[in-house]
Amino acid sequence: MSTISPSPQRKITLHTLQAKKVRGEPITMLTAYDFPTARALDRAGVDSILVGDSLGMVVLGYDDTLPVTMEEMLHHARAVARGAKVAHLVGDMPFLSYQASVSDAMRNAGRFLKEGGMNAVKLEGGREVVPAVRALVGAGIPVVGHIGLTPQKVNQLGGFKTQGKSAAAARCLIEDAHALEDAGCHALVLEAIPDRLAGLITRRLSIPTIGIGAGAACDGQVLVTHDLLGLTDGFAPKFVKQYANLHGEMARAFAAYIEDVSTGRFPETTHAHALDEDVFRAISREWDGGTAH
Ligand code: KIV
Repeated sequence: MSTISPSPQRKITLHTLQAKKVRGEPITMLTAYDFPTARALDRAGVDSILVGDSLGMVVLGYDDTLPVTMEEMLHHARAVARGAKVAHLVGDMPFLSYQASVSDAMRNAGRFLKEGGMNAVKLEGGREVVPAVRALVGAGIPVVGHIGLTPQKVNQLGGFKTQGKSAAAARCLIEDAHALEDAGCHALVLEAIPDRLAGLITRRLSIPTIGIGAGAACDGQVLVTHDLLGLTDGFAPKFVKQYANLHGEMARAFAAYIEDVSTGRFPETTHAHALDEDVFRAISREWDGGTAH
C-alpha cells in the first residue's frame, strides 16, 4: 500500500492575513524568541509569529524594552526563522532603530529581512512614524503598525497604562490608525485600549487589527508566549490568559533533579553507555590495577 505524505503547508503571507479579515476568521499571533518555541508554534498552526522586543523583559531580564539592540533582535530572529517555515514572521524594531531618521528605519528594517529571515517588521507609533512606514513599504518591506500602549514610550506615558480612555485620546488613536493604513501598513497591533474603541477602529480599517488587551472585536489576537505559558513568575497583566504554569513546572523539575543527583537516584544504569567487557578488562589492568568493576 502506498503512503501519501501530507502536502507541505503553504507559507502564510500578509495576503493570507488580509483574506482572514475579509472572511471574518480570527488571526492568531504569538511571540517567539528561539528555535524550539518557533517550531512548536509553527506545528500548532499559529498564523503569525512576532519576534517581539518583549524579548528584553521576558528573556533578557531588562526592566523594560528600551535597552534591546538590533543585534539582540537579529540573533533571536534568526533562531525563530530556522524553526518556523509556515507562519508569517514579524521582527519588532527596537527602540531608536527607526525613530531618529527614515534612513535608520530603512537600514534596520532591511536587516530583519536580509539577515533575520523575517517577512515583515513592526514598529510603534502613530502619525509620527508615517514617513518611515511609507519609505519601508515603498522599498518592499511589509510593516505592521502598533498603537495604544506603546511600551517604547513607557517613560512618556508614565507607566504601562491603558490608552485611549478620553474622547480626545480615542480620537487621536482613530486618526493614527487611519494614517498608518494610508501609509501602507498591512496590519495594526492595538495594545491596551478599551474594547469598544478597538472594535470601532477594526470596523473602520480595511487592514486587520491584532489586539493585545484590546478585547474580542479585533481581527486577531496576540499574546506574549511567556505570559500564556506562565513561564515568568512576575506580574501578569489583566488581559493575559495563562494556559499553563511552566514556571511552577520548571521549579518542580529542577528540585526533583537536584534531589535525585544528591541522593544517587540519577543517573541509573539505563542512562549510562556500556563498554565491551574485554576493552574494560584491558584498560582496567593498565590503569586501575585490575580492580575496577
Ligand atoms: O514586543 C512584543 O511582544 C509586542 C507585543 C506585545 C505586541 O510588541
